[in-house]
Parts: sequence; structure tokens; C-alpha cells
Amino acid sequence: MEHTLAEAAAAAGPAAPAGQDGLRSYLTDRSATVPTAGVGTLLGAARSLVGPRQRAAAKHLGTRLLAGRSTRRLRDLHASGQPLLLNLGSGTYNAPGWVNVDLWGLHALWGVHPDVVWDLRRPLPLPDGSVDAVFSEHVLEHLPAAVGLAAMDQAFRLLRPGGVVRVSVPDFGRWAADYADRRAGRASSPDLLDLVRPGRPTDLLALAEVVYDHGHVSVWDTDTMVALLRTAGFVDVAASAYGQGRVSPVPDAPHRAAESLYVEGVRPA
Ligand SMILES: C[S@@+](CC[C@H](N)C(=O)[O-])C[C@H]1O[C@@H](n2cnc3c(N)ncnc32)[C@H](O)[C@@H]1O
Repeated sequence: MEHTLAEAAAAAGPAAPAGQDGLRSYLTDRSATVPTAGVGTLLGAARSLVGPRQRAAAKHLGTRLLAGRSTRRLRDLHASGQPLLLNLGSGTYNAPGWVNVDLWGLHALWGVHPDVVWDLRRPLPLPDGSVDAVFSEHVLEHLPAAVGLAAMDQAFRLLRPGGVVRVSVPDFGRWAADYADRRAGRASSPDLLDLVRPGRPTDLLALAEVVYDHGHVSVWDTDTMVALLRTAGFVDVAASAYGQGRVSPVPDAPHRAAESLYVEGVRPA
């Protein structure tokens, strides 16, 4: 667990210096262009020239242009008769044994290619009930909640009866609980704020990073995720834990464990 917390802390970024100048330097650093970690400053410079809307538009255009190839790939996978396990929004983490699906983008810079390029806001070209399991990790917080529900409606349509959906997102409930415990003077030490987002000028600013950073547009806790899956029609909906649950091979990314919640549901017969 310590290993995964260290990775999560590294992904969350550096702490600001404490003290009176802390807030100014924190806000100044965050308003500056941050080069993409691990890819060098050239990409960082390119990103500063192209805004997030243009980048998103390029990803969606590239995805659209590859739709024919992706449709053929999905049909071949379906025709193979092998169990079909879909990892929706795979990013730079391709789950072994799963068909990893994501937008066209710059994942290749990390040496990672999705198996299928597809925009999850569009119906995947697979028959109803043709998929054995659906997994999605740290993706729904990048979608408005209503679009997240539509994605779970799609998972429900795709899954065969008895098929399992497994969803993981940052556990905003835990962050909020740590914040509330600190306000009430009953924080356990170290808590998630200490471990993953230490040294922020205030606790609220650490919490705000979880809400607004990385292109997040929705927040989730276990109750809300359970409600989402039930609303999409799933039964036996329950919280799960990292590395456990009803899907195999385990698709959970180790570096997500520390700050994630996991919920599973089953498509009824
Ligand atoms: C934070 S990354 C998570 C990647 C990986 N699942 C992980 O946990 O490391 C979110 C991923 O969701 C993908 N994504 C967001 N919106 C999408 C959409 N409409 N269609 C397909 N993928 C999408 C992004 O391209 C990105 O790779």
C-alpha cells in the first residue's frame, strides 16, 4: 500500500512551501504551464500553444477518422468467440487480458496503444449481450454525471446476463471525510490528505485539486456510484476493494489503489 500511496502522491504533484508566501507561490505555480510528466518540455511547450478545447477536438476528430477500423476490429473480436472483456478509457494503462478502449491521442508517447479507438459517448458497434465484463477506471470523473450514466446504460446493453461491470473512480467521499475530520479536530494521522496531497496551503485547496484538476468534471463517492449502477439497471451492486471482486483477470491499476473506490454490479438475466 505504501508503494501505491507514494505513486499517487507523485501523480498529485509537488507540495507548496508552507507559510505566508505559500499561497502565492502555490497559485502562481498552478497557473503556469506544467510540462507533461515523463515526456519532456517539448510536449509541454506544444500543450501551452494549444488549449484544452482544441486538444479535445483533435482527439475526437482522430477517433472519428479511425471509426471504420475500430468497428472492424470489434466485429473480429466478437466473431472470435473468445470472452470479451472491455476496459473503457484505458489511457496509459492497458489491463492485461482485456480489450482496452480509448480515444485516439498521445498515449503512444508512453508506448501504449489502445486495442480499440472509440469515443465512449457513442454506442460501441457490438451486439446487445455480447460482452462478458466491463471495467472502467478513473474515467467517469472526466465525464459529466449524466454522460457517466449513459456510459453505464451502454455497459448494461453490452453485457450478457450475469456479466459484471466494475467501476473505479477517485473516492471523493474519503477526501471529504478527511477534510471534515480535520475541521472537527478528529483527523487520524496520516490521512489521505497527508499522504497524497501534503503541504497544500489549506485543506480546501487540496480538496479542490481532486474536484478540478486533470480535467475532472464530476465527483463520486461509493453511495453515488452504487446509485448510478442501480439506476442503469444493475443488480447485486456493492462496493469492492482493490484487487478483489468478480472479474478476472484483475484489471485494477496498482497506482490507482490508494485514492480509489471500486463498485461492481451484475446484469440480471
Ligand atoms: C485518467 S485517464 C485513466 C486511464 C486509465 N484507466 C488509468 O486508470 O490509468 C482517463 C481516460 O479516459 C479517457 N476518456 C475520457 N473521455 C473519453 C471518451 N469520451 N471516450 C473514450 N475515452 C475517454 C481519456 O482519454 C483518458 O485516457
